[in-house]
Amino acid sequence: METNRKKYYITTYGCQMNLHESEKIAGILCEMGYELAENEKEADIIVFNTCCIRENAEDRAEGNIGALKQLKRKNKDLIIAVGGCMTQQEGYADKLLEKLPFIDIVFGTHNLEQLRPLIEKRLNGKKHVKEVWEKEGEIVENTPKTRTSYPNAWVNIVYGCNNFCTYCIVPYVRGRERSRKPEDIINECRSLIKEGYKEITLLGQNVNSYGKDLGTTSFADLINEIAKIDGKFRLRFMTNHPKDFSLELIEALKNNPKVCKVVHLPVQAGSNRILKLMNRHYTREDYLSKIKLLRENIPDMAVTTDIMVGFPTETEEDFLDTLNLVKEVGFSGAFTFIYSKRNGTPAAKMDGQIDEETSKRRIMQLIDVQNTANRNQSKGYLGKTIEILCEGYDEKRGKYLGRDVYGRMAYFSGDESLLGQFVNVKITKTGGMSLLGDVVKD
Ligand code: 5AD
Ligand code: SF4
Repeated sequence: METNRKKYYITTYGCQMNLHESEKIAGILCEMGYELAENEKEADIIVFNTCCIRENAEDRAEGNIGALKQLKRKNKDLIIAVGGCMTQQEGYADKLLEKLPFIDIVFGTHNLEQLRPLIEKRLNGKKHVKEVWEKEGEIVENTPKTRTSYPNAWVNIVYGCNNFCTYCIVPYVRGRERSRKPEDIINECRSLIKEGYKEITLLGQNVNSYGKDLGTTSFADLINEIAKIDGKFRLRFMTNHPKDFSLELIEALKNNPKVCKVVHLPVQAGSNRILKLMNRHYTREDYLSKIKLLRENIPDMAVTTDIMVGFPTETEEDFLDTLNLVKEVGFSGAFTFIYSKRNGTPAAKMDGQIDEETSKRRIMQLIDVQNTANRNQSKGYLGKTIEILCEGYDEKRGKYLGRDVYGRMAYFSGDESLLGQFVNVKITKTGGMSLLGDVVKD
């Protein structure tokens, strides 16, 4: 139904954290009376929530913003706002406005919750509104949210990062670790379950350091508390840091059946020399012994990871260490990246930057090894019946989809009534990462 309400459109780059922050941006816009547009052309305000973790994410965002020049020329009232990690980098906002002067509003990650007055300033006639706070402020509770990922709901538990891995820009654009109060988190989770959400994903750059700044509640305590909430739901969390992944946490995962049987534990590299240069604070042996401890306690726990190739000075031998670690662990999934030089980080100044061709070859080799693992693990599902939380519809395949408790995606025929339901699916065909099956009625 057409209404006279003004419309918004949001483009998000990067991780779950950004997707959730876009839900907050949408919440603020809805509270101001905007409604979602079907596409950019229909919108009165277009917001870009950007990412700067790798160069290609920045390039894509700049390209897509640049492409709006024509739209802006046609519609003088259109507001274009750019926020997120990219604009939070030192000196970047001015550079961006110089490059793309038709942008109306620039804001950062630290003042995302204050977007409303910035939009109002622009609506009241100010041509360019640029406000990027240098430092993180106090945690802002009760920002309205327009959620987009039912039956999953994202819940922030800790903001920022104190780890300063030498390749990573995140600590510079997200500030220091700040934990939300446990009661705020638990109340939010309780309301979400009451509203009908079936999966909660706790978010933080390093969820394992939750509560260190509070001194009262650890991440394991928090898991134990959230898992006590009545109702059938799944509990997930990301992302973890191997150095802080503790036995106390493993025990909390083991004792709470609502916690999904998958942990995302980014290893980054398998060579001790590279791990040290990355400032990761663990060795290959430490990592492997944490995996062993995890599997001794929860034998069927799936582990996924992030891995990087082409870090400065990485030799063929270092890379083979990574490859062997991947084979040894048997990850259920891996996000693989080519190291991307980020200005302002220590690694950007290191000698021995690796050429693109070598990095590309290494990542292809790595992907190949992981694909074989994925295929073999998928084969193990053939003929089995698994419980899936139906989370959406895939237009291209013409199938409904959802994940099992290990995070594996399955596709199946059905109807809209399955959305948000737990369904039993018998697997009839397996591919690389995904499974195909039929709903089994009980
Ligand atoms: N280049 C490539 N990958 C990176 N990551 C973080 N910084 C960089 C970078 N400069 C990867 C890490 C991290 C994931 C979220 O992104 O693997 O775990
Ligand atoms: Fe970046 Fe390391 Fe912090 Fe993760 S833990 S956000 S890789 S600095």
